Amino acid sequence: MTTDLQRVFSGIQPSGDIHIGNYLGAVKKWVELSKTHDCLYCVVDDHAITVDFDPVVLSQRTFNAVLTTMACGLDPDDCTIFVQSHVPEHTELTWLFNTITPMGSLFRMTQFKDKARNALQRALDKKQGGARKTALFGLKKIGDTVYKLSEKMNGSLSNINPSEKFTPLMLEEMQKEVMKVNDYMGKILQQLQVGLGVADASCALFDYPVLQAADILLYKASIVPVGEDQEQHLELCREIADRFNKKFGETFPMVSRIKGDAPRILGLDGKNKMSKSLNNYIGILDSKEEIVNRLKSAFTDPARIKRDDPGHPELCNIFSYHKLFGKISDIEEISAECQKGTISCFDCKARLAVTINETLEPIRDRADELGRNPSLVIDALDKGRVRAGNIAKETMIEVKDLMGIGVNSLNKL
Ligand code: AQP
Repeated sequence: MTTDLQRVFSGIQPSGDIHIGNYLGAVKKWVELSKTHDCLYCVVDDHAITVDFDPVVLSQRTFNAVLTTMACGLDPDDCTIFVQSHVPEHTELTWLFNTITPMGSLFRMTQFKDKARNALQRALDKKQGGARKTALFGLKKIGDTVYKLSEKMNGSLSNINPSEKFTPLMLEEMQKEVMKVNDYMGKILQQLQVGLGVADASCALFDYPVLQAADILLYKASIVPVGEDQEQHLELCREIADRFNKKFGETFPMVSRIKGDAPRILGLDGKNKMSKSLNNYIGILDSKEEIVNRLKSAFTDPARIKRDDPGHPELCNIFSYHKLFGKISDIEEISAECQKGTISCFDCKARLAVTINETLEPIRDRADELGRNPSLVIDALDKGRVRAGNIAKETMIEVKDLMGIGVNSLNKL
């Protein structure tokens, strides 16, 4: 494999079945880029353990994720495919990056808040004790507590008269009031975090974007094909690279995102991003029957109540899938029929199932073949681990030298 090509890095979590959102948002692009760039693709199991997981299920999912991406067209002769935890430098670089990443930047990450809230919701659905206790706080109670605390805070601040001339005693009193306010603000923040599920989230989930920056920068990749949902994390990755370069010397490139065919596919619920963990997806390896069944409950144009009500294709999530999978002539026909009310939502979904199945069938066939020859997957991973590991080790030597840590730094004394 030539190495003077531009380097690409991307990853996928083994957090469930890989779905059509992952495929059209990222994996399809990975396959294209592997023909023209030096690509490293990683199944990011260290990311997947930032929320609740089952170790036995996880290792099976990791294997399946590699198999699925290979079935989608990744060829180990064209790119490097590996598993994140097989190259320990990912977590090592994360720790070093943690030292230059402000907590404030991480608090801004919307995915952290979303995932924390979803994890709390899942725990509640499973009726886990801790989560129930958290939920017992209830939004109203949180609201009341925040209100009471802000009243107290107001009281403390109103004791301070800025037009008075301050004596040392008054300054001391004022300092005490400010400390009280500080304490109240901490408590308010804590209450709000409980409400968002953030208080129960792991430190690792909070640190997820730093690990992601380490994944990319470990290989000094400059191109990252990911869905729109990752743009905020990439911005942080640029911020971390910039901080490191300014503090320790020019080391890392600025990364840019390459868009896939569909930067953000909505889930079958028509509300949230299609996600493995929200179970609102069509899996890449779903059988024809599973595709039909999953589509049955999918959200459509709410204006169509009766079979022949005229529809609004541009507002219908099912039509957005037709646009991604169908031929232009079919898409135009479906749009016209929907607007006239001559095709029912049921029939529209049935046609979509056929179209999606046409794209997925060859992928499923390749997956079956790989399933019968698992050594093809294991060999690809062995080769990938060695190549990724070699690049990662080189970067770590450079980074540690610059930071004055590691064995080499003592040799220089
Ligand atoms: N709905 C989507 N539309 C377009 N692209 C998407 N991606 C994910 N969902 C969509 C892109 O797929 C790549 C791999 O994603 P990931 O596995 O690393 O993590 P994720 O974005 O968190 O994916 P999920 O499916 O939503 O998983 P869970 O539920 O576990 O969090 C990324 O490039 C992503 O942008």
